Amino acid sequence: MEGDEAYGTGFLMDEPEDYYPPSPPPTKQIFGMQNGKQVTLHLVGHSPTEAHHLWNGAKFISDYFEQDPSRVEGKSVLELGAGAGLPSLVAGILGARKVVMTDFPDPDLVANMQKNIDECNATVEPEGHVARTIDAAGFVWGADPEPLLARLAPACQEGDGGDGMQRGFDVLVLADLLFRHSEHGALVKTIKETMRASPDSAAYVFFTSYRPWKQDLDMGFFDVARNAGLEVEQVSERKLEKPLFEGDPGDLDVQKTVKGFIVRWPVEDCNS
Ligand SMILES: C[S@@+](CC[C@H](N)C(=O)[O-])C[C@H]1O[C@@H](n2cnc3c(N)ncnc32)[C@H](O)[C@@H]1O
Repeated sequence: MEGDEAYGTGFLMDEPEDYYPPSPPPTKQIFGMQNGKQVTLHLVGHSPTEAHHLWNGAKFISDYFEQDPSRVEGKSVLELGAGAGLPSLVAGILGARKVVMTDFPDPDLVANMQKNIDECNATVEPEGHVARTIDAAGFVWGADPEPLLARLAPACQEGDGGDGMQRGFDVLVLADLLFRHSEHGALVKTIKETMRASPDSAAYVFFTSYRPWKQDLDMGFFDVARNAGLEVEQVSERKLEKPLFEGDPGDLDVQKTVKGFIVRWPVEDCNS
């Protein structure tokens, strides 16, 4: 894994256009779903925010959804820091009601997410389903959630009007986002502001500690979530044959491990 978490959110606009060396070209990966469907993922060329890879988190949340499609079927889904947006595409394919795929509001990142939606749409029946269901949007963690909530159907945008329907998304996706330790508070803020206050809502947080010596700092995210009043449960742990980046320094077992957690509202904070 390159770089560190120490970049600010204004950096994309701060540098003169020719500040960075020329970007390597965009790449493409094919992800094979367990049902045999192949999903094409375009990835931007080198990205200072690490959007140019397909990370373990995205692949394993997608697998986790496919193991039990009821995790997303008929539900509203919000993905943060989506990169190529694989879990959003898989959720759409598995029958999610509405999906909002978000990443840093850099025009190239948003255009790339839309390209992946369009390409997936062309391969999934009925025609137009994926394009109608999945939106691509720019969103900085911790920012005003209203533009995201506005994309939900009116019934899910209202507060509890007596019908028990709370405002917000049923499912959140955070795939390999914990490496930016300074942003843990912003991520938790966004979870609380966008996840429907229901015991059935779930934020899926899957990740690998690619820098094993910072594993404790990655795990610190869950302390931030608990301190903010959310519940945390580990639901998965898988050891891969190889690390994503061969030759990287640090404990190889940690580099090969993908952990999956669910963050939820406590029942006492939910009205329904
Ligand atoms: C390690 S990549 C993970 C990408 C994808 N979720 C996956 O698993 O393949 C981290 C992603 O978070 C995005 N990101 C980083 N900081 C962000 C921020 N402050 N707000 C929104 N997105 C951010 C990056 O652009 C990048 O796509």
